[in-house]
Amino acid sequence: MATIVSIASGKGGVGKSVLAANLALLLAKRGKRVVLADLDIGGADMHILFGLLNPPLTLTDFLNRRVERLADIAQALPVHPGLTLIPGTGDTLATANMPHATKKRLIRHLRELEADVVVVDIGAGTSYHALDFFLMADHHVTVATPDPTSVLDLYRFIKLAAIRRVLSSFLSRDAMADALSDRDFSSVEEVLEVAGHTNEAGRAVAEATLRTFHPALVLNRVTGRSRVNTSVLKKLLTQYIGASLTVLGEIPDDPAIGRAVRGYLPVVDSEPASPAAVALNTTADALAMHMEESRRAQEDLDQAALAASLLVSSYDYGVHAIAQPVSVECGG
Ligand SMILES: Nc1ncnc2c1ncn2[C@@H]1O[C@H](COP(=O)(O)OP(=O)(O)OP(=O)(O)O)[C@@H](O)[C@H]1O
Ligand SMILES: [Mg+2]
Repeated sequence: MATIVSIASGKGGVGKSVLAANLALLLAKRGKRVVLADLDIGGADMHILFGLLNPPLTLTDFLNRRVERLADIAQALPVHPGLTLIPGTGDTLATANMPHATKKRLIRHLRELEADVVVVDIGAGTSYHALDFFLMADHHVTVATPDPTSVLDLYRFIKLAAIRRVLSSFLSRDAMADALSDRDFSSVEEVLEVAGHTNEAGRAVAEATLRTFHPALVLNRVTGRSRVNTSVLKKLLTQYIGASLTVLGEIPDDPAIGRAVRGYLPVVDSEPASPAAVALNTTADALAMHMEESRRAQEDLDQAALAASLLVSSYDYGVHAIAQPVSVECGG
């Protein structure tokens, strides 16, 4: 099963697609089989960044079931043999109102792709589509520029993502789902309070869900005076959302990126020595390390779970072994 990395932002135009394209290519260059999926519903343009002006098949073909398997619309990219692209869909009523079942089918197919990593570019803003595609991933990367409006929009995005994540964790619990479903929450604390009032364990479940939410941040178009904004954002997130934020990288504002976009090539290929390309390499290393650490932590958890289940089954076996002769004796 592929590891999914989602890339999102609150504000548009901050560099998500450029970041997604370059990170995907860099992971492929590090030996991973990578699929880059354009899930910017309505604003899909990733194919342009690779010079694919008219992709023969797009996500629309999969969503409309003209193509059954998502893998069949993935296209090889000449830039690297380890990288393929799932071109995004245009803005149609069908995609804007994508039914839940279609969204689930898409997410299932993304997970089942034969790849090591699926990098997903998500549309800007806080639509349910954007939040759900962002949250389905194993690793959540957000992008902002040092511009205060971009930072504020990112704060709103992460806050709503955290609320939706907590709400989703209650979907299978009937009483809680009823209590939470009709309300318009504006803060995570409000959700925790209602959850806590509805049943005793509610607040604990909600807090546990939040503890596993660790969005990472890439600051893009950084110039000399941007550090203050990052620390304010980190403080806000810890204080009001309870989510910690790892800064994965800082990409400088660099004209090489504009040139690369106009030349239909990721900057790490067209100008590998440029400041932006160097920073993107550092960011890809940080992401790869982050993924490796989570993989190891998960392996440890799986092993602990396996050890615990072996202990339980040997205990079962022991009880069974003792119980059987007794029951035989009783039966005789
Ligand atoms: N670090 C940078 N330095 C200079 N220019 C940049 C940088 N990052 C992005 N840009 C410019 O910003 C433009 C927008 O970037 P991009 O398309 O990646 O944004 P986006 O967040 O995906 O936008 P949208 O929300 O519309 O999908 C690029 O075409 C590029 O010219
Ligand atoms: Mg984009």
